[in-house]
Amino acid sequence: MTKRAFITGITGQDGSYLAELLLGKGYEVHGLVRRASTLNRGRIDHLHPNSELHLHYGDLTDGVGLVNLIREIEPHEVYNLGAQSHVKVSFEMPEYTASTDAVGTLRLLEAIRAADIDCRYYQASTSEMFGATPPPQNEASPFYPRSPYGAAKLYSHWVTVNYREAYDLFAVSGILFNHESPRRGESFVTRKITLGVAAIKLGVADELHLGNLEAVRDWGYAPEYVEGMWRMLQHDVPQDYVLATGKGFSVRQFCEAAFAQAGLDWEDFVVYDKQFERPTEVDALIGDPSKAREVLGWEAQTDAMALARLMVEADLEQMARLIGT
Ligand code: NAP
Ligand code: GDD
Repeated sequence: MTKRAFITGITGQDGSYLAELLLGKGYEVHGLVRRASTLNRGRIDHLHPNSELHLHYGDLTDGVGLVNLIREIEPHEVYNLGAQSHVKVSFEMPEYTASTDAVGTLRLLEAIRAADIDCRYYQASTSEMFGATPPPQNEASPFYPRSPYGAAKLYSHWVTVNYREAYDLFAVSGILFNHESPRRGESFVTRKITLGVAAIKLGVADELHLGNLEAVRDWGYAPEYVEGMWRMLQHDVPQDYVLATGKGFSVRQFCEAAFAQAGLDWEDFVVYDKQFERPTEVDALIGDPSKAREVLGWEAQTDAMALARLMVEADLEQMARLIGT
């Protein structure tokens, strides 16, 4: 039997890698895409010739649309990756962030209930839910979100747990620490740095403006994390898991490694810019992924220093192609 998966957020970093993974495993993949005045499918364009990929217009703020889609597709697995995923932007758009990242989850879970189908559900939870709780953080650590994004995601986390307990839905929440790749959005700090390094190296820019350099994050490699999501849904028992590398690095250390990869000294180019600070910061996130290792056999292979190198190389190559050098 061909398995059908439905992915919200298929045009994002994780959605694109997950679609690749599932198509490779023989799934029929259905993705939710938002209507925009320009096409926004750069991360999945290369998958298009695949006849097992089906895209549907919709939005997590449109509950009726979700009900109709779930009824029509009858997916065996649903991956809810769609979100306004930028922490700083969530302070500027708190209500929209709550509607998409919190109530959107409820709309999707209700759509699954209304369709009365036997379906497994993955919720994209986040280490941001730990916020002010000091590291290392694991599944038992207390939550203390520090942004409208973190608070909205915490609602989604708990409503996922509740639907599992109340309705016996196979629902799991993956509490993922930061994960990056050459497909990472350009305004997240790792990609902003590696794009900045490439622009400086190729003579297109001469400085890079950043905010808090002291924040510590546990950065892993996105393709490895989507494999973890899939494994969570294949296990016999629905449970929540942390995915992380277990190693923390500061933004400053990431900068140092990224500039060094291009033979540059970061201190010559990085300029502190207050506008990139947040009203409340999450100082340190370092995950303890023991449970995922023991139960799912999942382990991160790529740490932040390796990521800095591979992302700089990818951005140098892409930018050189763009400017024709
Ligand atoms: P991303 O690159 O920002 O992608 C977000 C996706 O959500 C995009 O496809 C976007 O569509 C879609 N989306 C945004 N608003 C929507 C709405 N109202 N209705 C439907 N879709 C909407 O994020 P990502 O890095 O792939 O992350 C995937 C998920 O994991 C997100 O839920 C994120 O919060 C969570 N997460 C990420 C990390 C990380 O480090 N990457 C860690 C923990 C949790 P457009 O392309 O049309 O904008
Ligand atoms: N974006 C950004 N831009 N961040 C900066 C900058 C800058 O110019 N300068 C310093 N930072 C610091 C931020 O203050 C934060 O402490 C850290 O770099 C990481 O910021 P982001 O890359 O924007 O990621 P995030 O940790 O806030 O959120 C990401 O990871 C979460 C998981 O922990 C996002 O992917 C979330 O969606 C995800 O849930």
